[in-house]
Amino acid sequence: MADDSKPTMAPEECSGCQKENMSESRRTLMRRLGWGAFFTTLTVSAAGTLRFFFPRVLFEPPTSFKIGTMKDYPSGSTDKYGVITVSEQFMEEQRVWIVREVDKVYAIFGKCTHLGCTPKWFPNERLFKCPCHGSQYYSNGVNFAGPAPRPMDRYIITKLADGRIVVDTSELFTVDKFDDPRCFLKA
Ligand code: FES
Repeated sequence: MADDSKPTMAPEECSGCQKENMSESRRTLMRRLGWGAFFTTLTVSAAGTLRFFFPRVLFEPPTSFKIGTMKDYPSGSTDKYGVITVSEQFMEEQRVWIVREVDKVYAIFGKCTHLGCTPKWFPNERLFKCPCHGSQYYSNGVNFAGPAPRPMDRYIITKLADGRIVVDTSELFTVDKFDDPRCFLKA
């Protein structure tokens, strides 16, 4: 028969039980950490395998774009630099000015040849001016003031069979190559 007169030990007083509970929860924690590490490794290697099947593709923007036909760049009177019109239509998107002279059309890359800033076109003065260090260019892109060492470069320009004109930015021509037949289009 049980001796009810003996006081039973409260759970918080059982130091053995406490130790047992602590080591049990430590074991649980270690088990969880182990599974966590296992699943992390599994996920990372699965992602690596998936990437192998879907290789990263670099979508580069096209290097050429159409600028209309010769009708969009009509003849007219020239300024004192031999230029009829400077079109800013493609400047914002492509950083290119299309210049029409009496006998040709060409595409100027809108980049100052000093340190690469973007010059601004001033139609009333018929000049390009660079805001960075004051270089200035005539309407044909030839430098005449400031630190710019040479005229602004030009891009490839060609005509398709249907008459549309294409500017190709994959190659730049410096002033010594302005006579290259790919650097201008006969008007
Ligand atoms: S970058 Fe144009 S003048 Fe210096």
